Amino acid sequence: MSIDQTLTGQERLAELDLDQLRRLVGLVEHDTDRDPFPVSGWDAVVWVVGNATQAAAHFRLVWGMELVAYSGPETGNRDHHAYVLRSGAVRFVLQGGVDPDSPLLDHHRRHGDGVVDVALEVPDVDRCVAHARAQGATVVREPHDVSDEHGTVRLAAIATYGRTRHTLVDRSRYTGPYLPGFVARSAPGVPPVFQALDHVVGNVELGQMDRWVDFYHRVMGFTDMAEFVGADIATDYSALMSKVVASGDHRVKFPLNEPAAGRKRSQIDEYLQFHGGPGVQHLALATTDILGAVDTLRARGVEFLPTPDSYYSDPELRARIGEVRVPVEELRSRGILVDRDEDGYLLQIFTRPLGDRPTVFFELIERHGSLGFGIGNFRALFEAIEREQERRGNF
Ligand SMILES: [Fe+2]
Repeated sequence: MSIDQTLTGQERLAELDLDQLRRLVGLVEHDTDRDPFPVSGWDAVVWVVGNATQAAAHFRLVWGMELVAYSGPETGNRDHHAYVLRSGAVRFVLQGGVDPDSPLLDHHRRHGDGVVDVALEVPDVDRCVAHARAQGATVVREPHDVSDEHGTVRLAAIATYGRTRHTLVDRSRYTGPYLPGFVARSAPGVPPVFQALDHVVGNVELGQMDRWVDFYHRVMGFTDMAEFVGADIATDYSALMSKVVASGDHRVKFPLNEPAAGRKRSQIDEYLQFHGGPGVQHLALATTDILGAVDTLRARGVEFLPTPDSYYSDPELRARIGEVRVPVEELRSRGILVDRDEDGYLLQIFTRPLGDRPTVFFELIERHGSLGFGIGNFRALFEAIEREQERRGNF
């Protein structure tokens, strides 16, 4: 039996050690020998956006990410721009069509700005694909090597919900800045605000959540982390169901949501309509200092969902959360939510949608032992989201 104690290249680049990573994103021990689909960690979150050049500047100058690599017309890629950005162990790739016939532009016309690929680093691409295929997964890209002067990367891709895919990447024989075809590129930046990716949430259609939970169980060997269904996360008007699956050591966590019947349209239905089907709803960015991050991001123009003042004065909540590292007043003044479970507590806050459509958004999360996702906050959060939906006339 081997307990996986290795860091991915991105994590080493972020100068994170395993203890720090464990605290940041809540890792657990895991026996990789018994894992049919071993996953080392996140590789990249790949986006299609309407204007990658401006989005890259936004992620650099607002979200404190560092530009590390680039592909585009100047490097022989006539189809699109792709900017690779990094913050801590998190890698984003922002793609935007250049050629009027680029398939990325068709994708963007339908779905708007969003995530198309949650790429995972794996030690053995072929073994993962063989297992996935045997379990009925759609292999959208067969295992293949790509090489340049920095070495060779082995890649494959499998389909998941909507038009999202998981590219599987073995970069153990590669030293370049991202992938062959990309050149190193840097630009002046601003101080970072987050260090790791905690979880990526998918929204799927009514009645499809269990199908995708089963997909992650069978195809990728993921296990259930937590389950909250129906009434737990319903308000008077709107409801959703959510289950969470995770890779063996919990480095990769995928909550999956589906709409549930409510008196009005749920936020998941709104997402499905405006995204044009299932897709990534939010990405949770782990930070060691959520108070500083929120202050910095607000000063740089980021808008967070407001939290009702009543949330902080509620005696039930005060009793439930107990002692946290700062006075509740510090959380109240920033709208930061807090939740506690048997393992500890977490602090979290959600942004407004990042683009023009009411689809993908970010969460900031600072964990203190809790391995949860803020279940106690769902109701308070959804009520805040519904007030926003109402303002947009979609409720
Ligand atoms: Fe979340």
